Formats: sequence, structure tokens, C-alpha cells
Amino acid sequence: MSHPNAAGVTARAHSNIALIKYWGKRDARLNLPAVGSISITLDALYTDTRVAFLPGLDADRVDIGGRRADTTRFSRFLDLVRTEAGIDTRARIESWNNFPTGAGLASSASGFAALAVAATRAAGLTLEPRALSVLARQGSGSAARSIFGGFVEMRRGTRDDGLDAAATPLLEAAEWPLTVIVAITEHGAKALDSTAGMTGSAETSDFYQAWVDHAEPDLAAMREAIAARDFEAMGELAEHSCLKLHGLMLSTRPGQIYWNAATVAAMHAVRALRADGVPVYFTIDAGPQVKALCPPAHAETVAAALEHVPGVLETRRSVLGPDAHCHD
Ligand code: PMV
Repeated sequence: MSHPNAAGVTARAHSNIALIKYWGKRDARLNLPAVGSISITLDALYTDTRVAFLPGLDADRVDIGGRRADTTRFSRFLDLVRTEAGIDTRARIESWNNFPTGAGLASSASGFAALAVAATRAAGLTLEPRALSVLARQGSGSAARSIFGGFVEMRRGTRDDGLDAAATPLLEAAEWPLTVIVAITEHGAKALDSTAGMTGSAETSDFYQAWVDHAEPDLAAMREAIAARDFEAMGELAEHSCLKLHGLMLSTRPGQIYWNAATVAAMHAVRALRADGVPVYFTIDAGPQVKALCPPAHAETVAAALEHVPGVLETRRSVLGPDAHCHD
């Protein structure tokens, strides 16, 4: 049995966006991905989470952004930590995102990564980053990647116990500076959560098997582009993976339409910039926000163009961010 830190522990984890997308599970219970993925961690979007295991509590309590949240998903996650630590104590979790929650900005990625770091430490455990990644994955697939900063690869793994389904760092943030401009087109929560969306695609899309079969070549090409710091190759592959993912979503029954009019207008704006010689590519997750990737020297131009797109409410700018870490 370990000794919980009664004062509690606070951790910060940054959101990430996938350049090669994850969609589909090979095992729902352990949350094992059907495909690997490659992402970048964002400095400007993060979650701070404080966890304290308190002997007096009779149930877990979770507050997100100062509001009481349903504990089901969090208690299940904390049970993994309690089992590992040999404790039975309930916990108080307080979490804050510095960006809109549940709107396609990967709050589950930064949220579960921060929770994995804070909860294990608060429970008296010391886990290696790889073990933290395996744990975070069980909260949310993309959270496994937010344990690391910079460019990150999530391995699909082949083991039934999921111990090889973990993220590994590819490049540190400083090794290839990049800017992401996030064009926010909606502040509300998204309509369909990613687990339900993935299950729908696996069960009903004629394109699902092709999606799984073609993941490896995309990952290999992206690894190569990143190793070579080849911005054009990286951008082309990222845009392709994004559009292929949305093709899969659209071919699901019922079709998953995550875009709004401003999402589409922002994609065209990115392509128009490119036609004018600005190096910029877009990517979009299970939501309506558009993330434009460019070298830092072009950030001003890209942000100005996206701010003028009708329906874009605001833009956020980010460089690549660090590993998840404890902080006070
Ligand atoms: O980690 P989840 O279950 O929220 O799924 C993330 C799915 C996408 O954001 C659409 C793609 C990805 O790889 O992050």
C-alpha cells in the first residue's frame, strides 16, 4: 500500500492535435486503438487538475471549471489508480481548462493526462512517463499522447493487455518550432462524443476497414517527414489524414457532420493562402474548429486571414508545448 499525499497534487497537461488521426478501437474495455496516431502538443491550451485522496469522503467528487461534474468516467479511472496504489480512499478532483471544454479542442486529452499525473502522484505512486501514457489512454485514447511534449507517436500495440499501446516522443518542441492557429467557430459542446462516433464508424461505414488498413503507410510517411523537418510533406499528410477521417465520419450511418459553414470557409481560406505562397495546412478533429499549421514566421499572416473568415469567432495561437508535469 502506498501513502497518499493528503495535501493533494496539481498537474498540468497540454492539449494535443493529431497530424495522423486516431479513430476506432481494437478493444473497447481497455480503450485500445485500432490505429496508431501522430500528434503535436499545444503550449497554449492546457488543463490544470488537482487531486486529493481524502479519508473522510464517502464518494469521489469532481469539479470542472468550478462546476460539479458527473463522476462515472472519473471514478472508473481513479479505480485503476486505487488498485495500483492499494488504497480505497475517495478523491476530490478539481480541474480547469483554459479553453472551451468538449468542443473539438481535445479537452479529454489534456484532462485525462493531467488527471493521470496528479492522481498517481497524489496516491503516492511514482510512474514512468510510458506507464502514465498507458494509464492516460484508459481515460481517453488521445490523452496517452498528452503525457509528452513536441511531436508524439501513439503506438497501436498488438498485446491483449494493452501494455504496448503507449505514446513515445518523436521530437521535442524546440527541435522543430511550429505554430498552430486555432480558428474557433463554435463555443458550445459538440453533439456526438468520440467513443460513440468511433463505434458507429466501425459498425456501419463501408470505409472503416480501408481506414484501418491504410494507417501504417500514413504513419511511416509522417515519421519520415518529421525526421526530415519537411514542412510541406508533413502538412500534405496532415491535411490528407484529416480529410480521410472526415470522409470516414461522413460515410458512417447516420453521417457524422462535425463541420459548420465557418469550418468549410476556413479550410478554403487556408488553401487560398497556400495558393498565394504561404506555407500553411489545416487539420480538424471531431468538432468544428480548424487548426492551421505554419512555420512561426507566417503566424501573423495566417491568423489575420482566419480572423476575417465569416463565422470565425476568435483565434488562439500556440507554439508546441512541453510534457505533462506536476506544478504548484
Ligand atoms: O481521445 P478521444 O477518444 O477523444 O478521440 C480523439 C479522436 C480525434 O481527436 C478525432 C483524433 C485524434 O487522434 O485525436
